[in-house]
Amino acid sequence: MKKQIITHSPQATKALAQQIALHLKDKAVITLSGDLGAGKTTFTQGLAKGLDIKKMVSSPTFTIMKIYIGRLKLVHIDAYRLEGLHQDLGFEELIGTEGVCVIEWPDYIKDLLPQSYLEIKMTRLDEDDRLIELISHGSTYSHILEKIE
Ligand SMILES: Nc1ncnc2c1ncn2[C@@H]1O[C@H](COP(=O)(O)OP(=O)(O)O)[C@@H](O)[C@H]1O
Ligand SMILES: [Mg+2]
Repeated sequence: MKKQIITHSPQATKALAQQIALHLKDKAVITLSGDLGAGKTTFTQGLAKGLDIKKMVSSPTFTIMKIYIGRLKLVHIDAYRLEGLHQDLGFEELIGTEGVCVIEWPDYIKDLLPQSYLEIKMTRLDEDDRLIELISHGSTYSHILEKIE
């Protein structure tokens, strides 16, 4: 299942992510693709809010991974700097095993993705407009998309 939504502000993107977060269960995996500035980290901030995480989520680009504690644990991975060199970092033991795992630049760790996950593609259309494509892989995520508006 695929859904396309256009948001017109960072707040609207966060609100959408927050709505999705309310439906997420333990072991959820979400990928976020899109160019720099597309809004991947902004989206993750909304997810965090929806998971009752009080701490500010910032881009983990220089740290590769950050973990936040909320209703569920949020594991925020930015694979940008890995460029495929993820061997022996232990991500396979982390992704889809606990909490909600959000992966920016998933192309770099494609072989570690589970069969079932929510794929999100973000495109900058204009200064404040973003096309957000939500693609479900697996029935769990199709059910979530049916509830999103
Ligand atoms: N509709 C929108 N959705 C998300 N971000 C937006 C939107 N409009 C403007 N922005 C701005 O675009 C930038 C997105 O940055 P960021 O979330 O860090 O992107 P990425 O993580 O994809 O590099 C932020 O400065 C944000 O305020
Ligand atoms: Mg980012």
